[in-house]
Amino acid sequence: MDRTDEIRDYPELRAAACPFSPPPGYEELRERSAVTRVRMWDGSTPFLVTGYHEARAVLGDSRFSADGTHKGMPRFTKFEVPAEVFNLGRMDDPEHARIRRMLTAHFTIRRTEAMRPMIQGIVDGLLDRLIAEGPPADLVADFAFPLPSQVIAVMLGVSDADFAEFQRASQGVMDFTVSTEEMGAALGVMVDYVSRMCAAKRAAPGDDLLSRLIVDQELTGGLTQQQVVATALVLLLAGHETTANMIALSSVLLLRHPEQLARLRADPGLMPNAVDELLRYITIVQEGTGRVAAEDVEVGGVQIPAGEGLIINLPSANRDPHFADAHELDLGRPNAREHIGFGFGVHQCLGQTLARVELQIALETLLRRLPALRLEVPLDDLAFLYESMNFGVARVPVAW
Ligand code: HEM
Repeated sequence: MDRTDEIRDYPELRAAACPFSPPPGYEELRERSAVTRVRMWDGSTPFLVTGYHEARAVLGDSRFSADGTHKGMPRFTKFEVPAEVFNLGRMDDPEHARIRRMLTAHFTIRRTEAMRPMIQGIVDGLLDRLIAEGPPADLVADFAFPLPSQVIAVMLGVSDADFAEFQRASQGVMDFTVSTEEMGAALGVMVDYVSRMCAAKRAAPGDDLLSRLIVDQELTGGLTQQQVVATALVLLLAGHETTANMIALSSVLLLRHPEQLARLRADPGLMPNAVDELLRYITIVQEGTGRVAAEDVEVGGVQIPAGEGLIINLPSANRDPHFADAHELDLGRPNAREHIGFGFGVHQCLGQTLARVELQIALETLLRRLPALRLEVPLDDLAFLYESMNFGVARVPVAW
């Protein structure tokens, strides 16, 4: 039931005593009413969905729209993404499906598996440098952050000569501590950079994702020039910070669970399942999963009137009793892969296979090459990013 007299403020943050768990208030809500109204900073009162089955029901139902221009869409930040910004994650089928089809061929299991040697090379290169420079090191700046941006740079076809500029521009848009004006300016720099890259590919196409989008779509009228730039930007933004945060947080979590770490070391074949369990347990995408009811729909016994917004809280859904002993980290969990840390339904993460492979290689190599890896500071002193859209950690000082 929707008890408007008890509307709670949104968002609640994860508790510093238990940073890997969802906000304790959401757990309480899930037990009481997994679909309930909350009040946002702008005074709006969308529904918050905290249960696993309810979250899947919303994300898997085309009567809920992801259209970012919809009036009822929850506004997570004051930073207004201009309406003309073209974003796969914020549009509905059939247009969404049309664009997604242009990209899926680049993210298939086969294509991604073939990228393993390239990814392994990048991981080894980063660790070679980290080891050569000696302890201490910052696992975020020296390992977790550069890895996904180098991988996506290879996929998009960024030349080695351009990589430093590419990385500077992409870091500008990743810094969530900056003001909205600074964020807008950083986005502008990135758009300029990607636009120039597109112009170069137009003149001399290669065999990379960006060249393919230009040759197969832009030149045949499937996408405008602006849409190609926006799509490249979405891939970069969606895949960089998320994967980086998962690598850093997974490393911290494993170091905090020596018995699970020992299990993984003893059985490297456990890695694919372990990565899914880490994705479930941490669930970094903690904000930003919003939808709007396009018609009246009932979810979890609650009537959602047409035009109302919903926020789907993935961290809480992934700790639902659907998972036995949901608060235990169990790298061998039989149904770990049922988590919805990559979302669910038509918008389910396009890059999930790539993210899984990056995580598997990064963690396997890190643990193998640095068997004595340890945190240099107590967990309490780590700068966790409680308030950002994606949960993360700013620095992870380590030694070995
Ligand atoms: C969508 C999580 C890595 C590209 C999503 C969604 C989630 C997610 C939860 C769905 C959001 C929604 O339904 O509103 C993650 C996590 C990652 C990760 C946890 C890393 C651990 C990547 C990578 C790429 C990528 C590496 C690509 C290079 C995308 C795109 C979408 C998406 C394009 C939008 C898909 C659509 O709307 O059809 N991701 N992601 N992600 N992700 Fe990821």
